[in-house]
Amino acid sequence: MKIAPDLADDDLRAIADLCLAQKVAGMIATNTTLSRHGLRQSTTEPGGLSGQPLKARATAVIRLLHRHAPQLPIIGVGGIASAADAWEKSLLGLVCCNSTPAGSTKGPG
Ligand SMILES: Cc1cc2nc3c(=O)[nH]c(=O)nc-3n(C[C@H](O)[C@H](O)[C@H](O)COP(=O)(O)O)c2cc1C
Repeated sequence: MKIAPDLADDDLRAIADLCLAQKVAGMIATNTTLSRHGLRQSTTEPGGLSGQPLKARATAVIRLLHRHAPQLPIIGVGGIASAADAWEKSLLGLVCCNSTPAGSTKGPG
């Protein structure tokens, strides 16, 4: 189950509960974000952002999911551009991480 980072925290918890109840193998956190919060320059570009603009929220989602449902495996995605980024997320409970090629992760942030 891959989740959007733009969901409210209560909705993320409800989805995690559903995954546990349905014996889903794990969750992938997260997909791209529709948020434009924190960008150095405004953009009207439509669609989801990946990479650096997503990193903090993706990390927060992993933290929330792991605290709420520690038995649920989490694959971490979102703004992982270095081993340090992966390590930070691993401390919060992910079991595996994925990083898209650096060229696609720089974004407008
Ligand atoms: C060009 C592009 C295409 C993507 N296509 C998909 C897709 O088809 N299905 C999907 O679940 N996620 C898709 N994603 C989201 C990525 O798998 C990933 O969750 C997101 O980009 C955050 O990771 P990143 O910051 O390492 O790029 C796509 C991301 C990008 C940048």
